[in-house]
Order: sequence, then C-alpha cells, then structure tokens
Amino acid sequence: MKLVATPGSFVTGEAAIPGDKSCSHRALILGAMAEGETRISGMLESDDVLATARAIEAFGARVDHSDGGKWIVRGGTWRSPGSIDCGNSGTTARLLIGAVAGMPAVRAVFTGDESLSTRPMQRLTVPLERMGAIIEGGDRLPLTVQGTQLGGIDHRNVPASAQVKSAVLLAGLGTNAPVSITEPMPSRNHTELMLARFGCELEYSETPGGQVTRLGRRRTLVGCEIKIGADPSSAAFPLVAAAIVPGSDVLVRGMLVNPLRTGLYETMEAMGTDIRLSNERLQSGEIVADVRITHSHLRPCHVRPEQIPAMIDEIPALAVACAFADGESLIEGLGELRVKESDRLGAIVAGLAACGVVAMVHGDTLRIFGRGQVQGGANVATQGDHRIAMAFLALGLAAEQPVEVDRAEMIATSFPGFTEVMQALGADLR
Ligand code: S3P
Repeated sequence: MKLVATPGSFVTGEAAIPGDKSCSHRALILGAMAEGETRISGMLESDDVLATARAIEAFGARVDHSDGGKWIVRGGTWRSPGSIDCGNSGTTARLLIGAVAGMPAVRAVFTGDESLSTRPMQRLTVPLERMGAIIEGGDRLPLTVQGTQLGGIDHRNVPASAQVKSAVLLAGLGTNAPVSITEPMPSRNHTELMLARFGCELEYSETPGGQVTRLGRRRTLVGCEIKIGADPSSAAFPLVAAAIVPGSDVLVRGMLVNPLRTGLYETMEAMGTDIRLSNERLQSGEIVADVRITHSHLRPCHVRPEQIPAMIDEIPALAVACAFADGESLIEGLGELRVKESDRLGAIVAGLAACGVVAMVHGDTLRIFGRGQVQGGANVATQGDHRIAMAFLALGLAAEQPVEVDRAEMIATSFPGFTEVMQALGADLR
C-alpha cells in the first residue's frame, strides 16, 4: 500500500495517540507471568502487540479484551506452545525468549517475519546461556528455547538494549541466584518499573562502570492494574509535523515522559522548538504529561552517543526535523540503527536524498545539511519500516512537493490509525 502526504494545510488540534508499545508488551507478558488478574487500560492494539497477546495465550494465559484498549490477563503456569510467530516484533521475540529460558518444562520455537529473521539474537542468547539457558539456533530466528533452572549473572548491557536487559531480568525471575545488569548508558526502564508494580523487588546502585539494577529476593509477581500512557515514539510524528509545518499547533494528552524516552523532545527544544509540558503526573509508576508543540524556526542540533538510548526509535523523526533546520546537524552513535526493523541509517539517508536533502553517514555519525526548506516530490522506499514511513509522511506535509511512501501497511505494527489521526489534525494524507 502506498500513502501520499501533500503539503498545503497546517496540522492543529489534539492528536489521539495510542498507548506505549514497550509498556503494552510488558503489561501482557508480566500479566501472563503473574498470579491472578491484571487489568490493563490504554493498551496499544497494534500488530506487534497483538503478536505478544497471541503468544501469551499460546503459553496458557487467559486474555480478554473489550473496546477502548481495556484488557484483562489471567496468568498461570506456562505450557509448551509449539511455535510462536513474533511477526515483525523484536520486543515480542526477545522478551519472551528471556521469560521462557527460566521456565523448566516449557519449550518453544520462536519465528518471525523476513525483517525480524535478519535481526541479531546473540546479544541476548549469549547472556542467557551464561545463566544456563538451553537455546538451539544461531544469531537469528528461528530459535528453540528449552526452559530450565537458571543460575545468576552480572550482565554488562553494551550496546544499550532494553530488550536484552528485559530478557535477562525476566529469565532471572525463575532463580534465586544473583541477577544484575550494569548499564554504562541506561536504556528504557519500563520492565523494572512494571516489575516493581507487580510486587518484584529491585535494587539500584551507581558504580564507576554504570548504573546497576539487581533483582531482589522477592521475585514472584502478583496481578495488578496498569494504565498505559500515550506512546512518545508514535507522538513524535504529529509533533514533529507540528514543528515543521507553518501555522501548526498539536497537543498530545497523557504522553509517557519517562526521561529515558524523551531524548527527541529535549533535542527539539534545544533546536528552538516551542514545546510545552503541563499536567505532569504519576500513572501506574510512570510519569505522563500533556505535551504541546507549535511551529517554530529550527536550529541544527549536535546529538552525542550517550543521548541516543533515550531517542533510539525517534531518529527518523529527528532527521526530518533536521532537514528543516537552518544548517548542519550532527547525530553521533547511531550504529544500532542498522539492526532495527530496517537498516534505518541507510533508509533515512536515501529518503532524504530522494527529497532533495543532503545527508551522509561517516561510521556511526549522521550529518544532515538543512536549508530551512525541503523540496520533496519523491517516492520514498520505507524498506518495510513503519517509522521510516511515518517520518517521511511528516516531511511531505512541510515540503514543497508531495511525498509518497511504499509499504505503508507496516505502520500498523506500531500506530494503527496513524492516517486517521493525522487527517483529523488537518493533514492531507491519502
Ligand atoms: C524496545 C527497546 C529498543 C527499541 C524498541 C523497543 C523495548 O530496542 O528500539 O523499539 O521495548 O524494550 P533495543 O533493546 O534493541 O535497543
């Protein structure tokens, strides 16, 4: 499916952003591992999250849902499901591989789509095997996991990966042995915050080697209530569109503003974006706020490697903002982008070039030469990557000529309803 963004109208109003993808996966998985009932509201019902929902049902959890993102998960003893199809979703595969690794008597084969089957898994199977996990296969899916009684580990999380950290923590729930993760560059901590909400003990410390997270003595989970905030990674597209399309003004209510996820917004503020946070509050252990962005004149940015984990999924959106800034932007430390849903570095540079923007990659550094305006008038190859599609559609709304993206159906992996949400703001997307 192709989608075209045509410039000429501003985006304004309240954007109805669905629930956070990372938190939705975790609420389902922890709910399935917990005793009793977990009630979830604000669940993201995207293809990736539905892959996790089907998986936990196959492992034996009871899952019910009603309209409006309300879900109930009843956890229990996991059983062997045969094969688990994780679709396009790295989070489904990596978190569930960790969970199963520590469950004696459970055996599962994990498969994925073409993109997921090219993504590296050894970053996770190596630490799990150090804990004693039994995993058949190499660095790619399919992998077969035979759950077993695991030992402890002190894992150094480099490159920074919340999925690897989460896999080790979930594997560690089934052992009493010491389990700790050291992070020189902290990654998103939704698993830790949600584990605490389910009654698991965690301890934190700062060491010269980085931040250490340790599982405490109590590692059993009890069902609870979780209200999920709006996804800052999805909100990035209408909010960046608001920043670059003259006359725009967009508000997102109840957005997750966990500081390990807000790197894009901090960078855009430094670029001169008019961004206002209000009504900050604690919701199910996470901070949420209402976020409003209006069109602004943008300066270029210089992002350093240690800032990347807090905006790892927002680089396509940031690259679009940089294309509209006046001058040369420099974004360092982007090696991990090569192993996302596509080679995102390659896809960003090719997409920008097609739209008349000079951009280049040296090593892991991306340079974008913004000129305040962008020509557009291109067909952008998304490489089947949802975030590349949404980023270039946002670009098309502010360019001189329309922008078309291919494989727009992949947007449903993270943001079903994207087109309707953008159209409701006034965007010309067809
Ligand atoms: C995620 C972690 C990040 C991110 C992904 C979601 C998570 O991946 O890019 O979209 O939910 O834990 P890595 O762990 O590979 O950095």
